[in-house]
Amino acid sequence: MADSATSVRPVTAPEIATRKGSGTPIVMITAYDAPTARVVADAGADVILVGDSVANVVLGYDNTLQVTVDDMVHHVAAVARTRPRPLVVGDLPWLSYHVSVPDTVQNAARLVRAGAGAVKLEGGRKRLDHVRAIIDAEIPVMGHLGLTPQSVHALGGFKVQGRDLEAARAIVDDAVALADAGCFAIVLECVPDAVARLVTDSIAVPTIGIGAGRHCDGQVLVFHDVLGLEDRTTPKFVRRYAELGTDARTALAAFAADVRQGRFPSSDETYHAADTVADEIARHGRTSAGADPAADAPRSGGGGGEPRSVGAGHSA
Ligand code: KIV
Repeated sequence: MADSATSVRPVTAPEIATRKGSGTPIVMITAYDAPTARVVADAGADVILVGDSVANVVLGYDNTLQVTVDDMVHHVAAVARTRPRPLVVGDLPWLSYHVSVPDTVQNAARLVRAGAGAVKLEGGRKRLDHVRAIIDAEIPVMGHLGLTPQSVHALGGFKVQGRDLEAARAIVDDAVALADAGCFAIVLECVPDAVARLVTDSIAVPTIGIGAGRHCDGQVLVFHDVLGLEDRTTPKFVRRYAELGTDARTALAAFAADVRQGRFPSSDETYHAADTVADEIARHGRTSAGADPAADAPRSGGGGGEPRSVGAGHSA
């Protein structure tokens, strides 16, 4: 398949910012490699988030704290190589912007050089100096408030945030500060819908919700959750639109059964030499190894056909 929309101009961060109040919610979906990026782009998403959720859904960790800038560069580059139409947002991992301001800008720049059109980071007012410095380096920044998974230990677990008035006000104040600093959009994760609504009404840039109800300017879900590829936990805000994990197990079990019962490969799935060549191979093919060629049965079929390219880079 051709890479998605190679001839189509990619969506930009400023364009996402102007979607506020357009009446058409922004659609953001995570992707972590070339095939998932192509699927997300072909589905018409506006934004591909190369999230640090790669830690959970791809790399097998229990939280996002294990992924590094090197990991994120690797995954952002794989997504960006498909030249998708959606804006590619690269997630800054834990400890990549909790360091000095110059180091933070360098880390953000690495994601941009890997192909991201913007970066995302977690936290509000206490990250403002770093947010401003990244924006000052001409890198668009998406904020992330509410449940910020990189703070899992400080928060005492993965819990809904902003449940009381004080906590709700803090989230609104953080959002206003991030928007004033120049963030082009803000993710709101796991907050009550009343809080998301107040934030959305309080800032001039879009909010993109995950577990934040319907009053946001857009919604984001994790690829593996939407498609039923992640079974370990399913938060209540996830709607599964497919059961690809179940389908994949059924398909692979069918393949295994076909192999074990001799039904795979069929003659049609096999390359054949011309009959004369096959006979010659059967008669002489093993003489140098001292085997008895007469012991080999002649091969059936004729003609080989060209090897088919399987995906990108493999030939059969
Ligand atoms: O990493 C991620 O997938 C995210 C989303 C949950 C917004 O940050």
